[in-house]
Order: sequence, then C-alpha cells, then structure tokens
Amino acid sequence: MNDNEKNYILRFNKIYSVNEAHPPWRKNLQFGDVNTVWTGLDNSSIDKMERNNILKGAIGQHRWWMSLLPGGIYTTTKMFGGKYLLRCAWNMLSAYFKTSLYLNKKYGFDAFKKFLETKIFVPVGEGAGAAFYFISSPIIRRFPILAPFPRWVEIEVTTVCNKKCTHCEHTHWGQTQEQRHLTIEEYKHIIDQFDLTWVHTTGEGSSFLNKDFFKIMAENRRRNIPHYFVDHFDDLNDEQMETILNYDIAGIYISIDGASPVTYNPVRIGCDFNRVVKNIRKFIDKKMEKRLLLPELNFRMVVTNENVHEMPLFVELIKSFGGKRELGGGARLDFVGVLNFDENEQKFVHTISYEIYKETIDKAKTCDFNVILSHIEPSQNPPSSQCICWLEPYILMGGDVIPCCTVLMSNNREYLHANAFGNLFKQSFKDIWNSPRYKEFRRIINDDSKQVPGFCVNCRAYDNTKRAIRNGIRWDL
Ligand SMILES: C[S@@+](CC[C@H](N)C(=O)[O-])C[C@H]1O[C@@H](n2cnc3c(N)ncnc32)[C@H](O)[C@@H]1O
Ligand code: SF4
Ligand code: SF4
Repeated sequence: MNDNEKNYILRFNKIYSVNEAHPPWRKNLQFGDVNTVWTGLDNSSIDKMERNNILKGAIGQHRWWMSLLPGGIYTTTKMFGGKYLLRCAWNMLSAYFKTSLYLNKKYGFDAFKKFLETKIFVPVGEGAGAAFYFISSPIIRRFPILAPFPRWVEIEVTTVCNKKCTHCEHTHWGQTQEQRHLTIEEYKHIIDQFDLTWVHTTGEGSSFLNKDFFKIMAENRRRNIPHYFVDHFDDLNDEQMETILNYDIAGIYISIDGASPVTYNPVRIGCDFNRVVKNIRKFIDKKMEKRLLLPELNFRMVVTNENVHEMPLFVELIKSFGGKRELGGGARLDFVGVLNFDENEQKFVHTISYEIYKETIDKAKTCDFNVILSHIEPSQNPPSSQCICWLEPYILMGGDVIPCCTVLMSNNREYLHANAFGNLFKQSFKDIWNSPRYKEFRRIINDDSKQVPGFCVNCRAYDNTKRAIRNGIRWDL
C-alpha cells in the first residue's frame, strides 16, 4: 500500500466516523464528502490529482498575508498572484472615481456618497468593494461584537422562473416551494428597516417576471441606493433595456454558463446562447449610444463538469463584448463553482486541470476587466475563520433572515426557513440582529476552536471540514 492509499483510507475513515453529522438535507452524501477531493477516488485519479497539485503548486501559492483576504479575492490572488490583485484594485479604483463623479453630477451628493460606501464598506457580493475589510476584517473576525449593523442586504424579489437550468435548485424544487413575487409594498417594508448603501435583489427566480421589479428599481433610484441584480438576459426586451439604462442601475451580473451553444443550451434549458449574446451586444450598443457609465456589466459562469473546459473560451467570449469602456472599469468576470446538492452532484468539479487554469489565467491577464475565481474547486477554498459573508444577511421570500447567500442552492429551503434568525414581517431587523441566537452565531463563526454552526455545515465557499471533525457542529445555530 503506498502513501496515497494510506492517506485515502485514513481520510475516509475519519470522514465516516462523523457520519452522524451529515447535514439533514443531504440524502446521498456523508458530511465531509463535499469539501474533500479524496472520497471515492481510485488510484489512477489519485495519481492524476497528485500530478495536478504539483503542477498547480506553481500557480497556487498561499502566502501568509492572503489570510487577510475574503473568499473569491483569496482564491484569485492565490491562483493569479499578488500583482494581479493590485492591477484589479487599480482598475476598480480609477473606474469608481469616475463613476462617483458621474453620479454626483447626475443625482447629487447622496448618490455619490452611497456609491463610494458600496465600494468601501459593503463586505461581499455583487459590486461590493470591501476596501475597509482589507484592514479591519482580522479585527472584526476576532471581535465580532464590532461587526457593523448591516447597511447592505440581499433580497429575494421572486421565486418564480420559466427556465429549467439543470444545475439550479429551482428546477428541482418540485411542488413544495411557494413560488411568488415580492410586492413593492413588501420591498419597501424590508428596506425601511435599514439605511441601505447597497442592495442586491435577486433570488431563485427571474426578476423580470415580477411586474413590480421596475417599481423596485425606481424606489432604489429614488433613495439613491446602488442596485445590483443578476439575470440571464435571455428574454430581455427593448423596453426593459431602456428602463434599466434610464435608472442608472449600478451593476448587472449576467449569467452565462458556457462559451458555446453546444455547452450552454443543454444546461440552461429555456434559454438560447445566440439570443443571449445578441441581447448583450444590443444592450451594450444602447449604453454606448447614450454615453452612460452605468450599469457596470459583469459576467458569471457557474463552473460544472459540463463546461469547465470552456473557461479559457469564456474569457474570450467576454472580451469580444468589449473592455473597460463598454463594460465598466470595475467589471468582473466571475467563475463560480457550482453550489452542489443531491440532484446536481454529478456536475460538481472536484479538481480543475493545471492546463485549464493556466490557459484561463494567461488569457485573463490580457483583458482589462477583472477575472475572479470563487469557490471553483474545494481544495482552493479558505477556512471559515476567514469568512466575512455573515456580515451581509440574506432575506428570503416571505421575510426570513438567514446569515448569507452562500447557504442557498443547497435545495434545503425548508431547513433555511425553519432555522432562520427571524422574520422581517414579524420583528424588526434590529431585534433579529441583536437576538441572542444571531449574536452567538456571530461569536463562533470565525473561531476555529469552536464548533461549526449548523448553517455553515456543507458551506461550499469556505472549508469547514477539518474544524467540524475536530470540534463538532452546533445544530442550534
Ligand atoms: C438563481 S439565479 C437567479 C437569477 C436569474 N434567474 C439567472 O439565472 O441569472 C442567480 C445566480 O445563481 C446562479 N446559479 C444557479 N444555480 C447555481 C448553482 N447550483 N450553483 C451556483 N450558482 C448557481 C445562476 O447562474 C445565477 O447567476
Ligand atoms: S438559474 Fe436562474 S433562470 Fe435558471 S432556473 Fe435558476 S432561477 Fe431560473
Ligand atoms: S455558510 Fe457560513 S461559512 Fe459559509 S459563507 Fe455563509 S456564513 Fe460563511
């Protein structure tokens, strides 16, 4: 028996010794499977992986100061190097300076201030700059009592969708989930409880199906709250394009899970690659005609076994849409790992080949938008002691408050609703945030010597495996 096999058996036994701790919503997996690359691999794959890891050593170096960085920025810096991080930071700084002046001129000082606050204080998520946390996050993680009262929130504005993307939990919900839209009155009730400097409205559904979505955009514009959302751009019509442009939406993340129709169409069922590309080009033309700086156009590819080989091609696809001028200087291309659950488990990418990384990185360095890698491979994830996602609550349809958006896409909505910290239609957010249970969650989340909160078991963005094996799990949190 060679060392790899011994390691495998040791690891395997360790994982299975905590079988009783598997997350209640996972039927087929045992706890730990998701965050380790060892389980179920035969010798030849272990050899292949060893080779891969050795090669990747050349591009995946951890340095001590990287422990200061949150999730996606950590992985990107590890894989692309510190120089790339500095280049992205500079791109963003110069772009945001211009955009804040543009907003000041068009909407006044309040819009200017809130946009800058988005870039400085919003910790994670679409369009967040998080500048403040590069310095303060070690202190906040050590003393969570210092965590700022959120002025940033993610709100689910619909749970209705007319597509059937094979990797999305919405497709696998069955009849158990209530599918409906958030009304403008409900939306106002939620945002009235915060003094927001950023909002991300999305959810498990397609926002444009909500007839109040334009009212939501208008309300955010009226309050000068920088507004970000995610959409697939498959059925966006001219009128919708014009409205988005008229409201100066801060940023859009366009989901395209492939770089060719052959790969994209079978995954994004109901969408059409060529139509999406046409709509994006049309939208950019309109934005250029009107000489607008906003919205910033970002792109997201959910990396699965079906499309991982197209990562380098995806960089080229986005490059074909334009650069700083067309997309915005802070624009991002996010490669995100598929958030996995029982029904999409076979799509999960355990390890990405050195060759794909290398080609993607080389291509990315020739673009003037910023390429970010977020939880695309479990072995690259930082430990949960580095997480600051909990600073940004997520409001599920119906008002239930959960700690972050990463817990979504685990096809366990019942668990999330049942274990939410509170409901915004029954209590104020202030009371929920200051409740003993939420406080206790914040107290232990970054402390490696403590148990893993139940919400964070099976987190696909941070690695909790070793910690859970060592300290166990607090299912009450
Ligand atoms: C749930 S969708 C809602 C917005 C819109 N319907 C869309 O597809 O862009 C929000 C984002 O989640 C992504 N997504 C869907 N399934 C996912 C999964 N299993 N893991 C990670 N992201 C996923 C989508 O690609 C999209 O970027
Ligand atoms: S990814 Fe978006 S479009 Fe696709 S099924 Fe999910 S919510 Fe609908
Ligand atoms: S599930 Fe927990 S560890 Fe993972 S991102 Fe959310 S708060 Fe952080």
